[in-house]
Amino acid sequence: MISGKRILLIIGGGIAAYKCLELIRRLRDQGAAVTPVLTQAAQEFVTPLSVAALAGQKPYTHLFDLTDEAEMGHIELSRASDLVVVAPATANLMAKMAGGHADDLASTLLMATDKPVLIAPAMNVRMWEHPATQRNLAQLLGDGIRSVGPNEGSMACGEFGLGRMAEPDEIVSAIAAQFAEGPLAGRHVLITSGPTHEPIDPVRYIANRSSGAQGAALAAACRDLGARVSFVTGPASVPPPHGVDVIKVETAAQMAKAVTEALPADAAIFAAAVADWRVDNAANQKIKKSGDGALPRLSFAENPDILASVAQMKKGRPTLVVGFAAETENLVDHAQAKLARKGCDWIVANDVSPETGIMGGAYNAVTLITRTGADPWPRLSKSETAARLALRVAEALGQA
Ligand code: C5P
Repeated sequence: MISGKRILLIIGGGIAAYKCLELIRRLRDQGAAVTPVLTQAAQEFVTPLSVAALAGQKPYTHLFDLTDEAEMGHIELSRASDLVVVAPATANLMAKMAGGHADDLASTLLMATDKPVLIAPAMNVRMWEHPATQRNLAQLLGDGIRSVGPNEGSMACGEFGLGRMAEPDEIVSAIAAQFAEGPLAGRHVLITSGPTHEPIDPVRYIANRSSGAQGAALAAACRDLGARVSFVTGPASVPPPHGVDVIKVETAAQMAKAVTEALPADAAIFAAAVADWRVDNAANQKIKKSGDGALPRLSFAENPDILASVAQMKKGRPTLVVGFAAETENLVDHAQAKLARKGCDWIVANDVSPETGIMGGAYNAVTLITRTGADPWPRLSKSETAARLALRVAEALGQA
């Protein structure tokens, strides 16, 4: 898929720039041509010589370089590729992009290009979490720019958290997703997945047994059909797939907010096992055992029903809204009632009685409930179930 593609790789000035050498090698191994561009700051981290050696061509570095301009002007350079990749996308580069600055070669190319752009952010965790960066990210995503990473982990600066640039193989899969062809190409699919954790105090929480396996499989299946996937996941035990936009959350309230921010979407699939209630008297400090045997009393508040609120949106509702129903009895009746109550288009119903081994297991046996009937599917692996559902989604959007 990547073979024969031309990638304009803009290398930003961050310590993660060293990973770009490996990225260039992998892209060229797969038959892509890489035209590198180094910002001024990037040259402090990797040398033009090493980039040139791996890319097989000299990197561009200056906006007003008469030799380069005579050979290929910056406008042409910004268009003579199939995809522009920015890695590492530093806080500064993201801010420039979001603000439409064009004061050096990299930012000018990004303004002048008419090609899709993929960014791989990398920065210190505080800089990543800063409202300005999050605002810029939302702006860039809203402008149709795709993003891969960042990942959580320890950083060169000694801190730990979100901000490590995605690994070269993750960036390669995100690039492959850009070139994916398939019935969902050009579509945006939003998927929720995993459990939510509802805090009781800073160290305890209420959770459920969802592994997030079905949601992760669905995200991969939609990606493989060419969709851009926003994957909003609670603390799942199965890692999110590569090549999708991962938004990690913990509580139902955070999931609801992340879903709103990820919209609009062509289809939204709600595979998360969202906690129905949160503890509304959660303590700010760890609750201590009292000496006299008195027990803590928890009081609960209902969580927002994310599926129902999206399904009932008056403006900007996704064309297709799909819910899941995990039941332990009267599967079809309960699921049909849920479809009507929540206002979604389909419900994927499964029997999660402990003897089925579905919750946390590798297999699933679902019944697809639509407004016109109930279609029981055979027992299939969660990835086969996902592939089948993704195809049905593609069919439904194709008819829309
Ligand atoms: O009402 P119930 O929890 O059985 O509904 C399950 C469906 O609703 C799932 O698709 C789940 O992701 C979604 N849901 C939600 N927000 C909630 C509760 C459930 O999106 N607070």
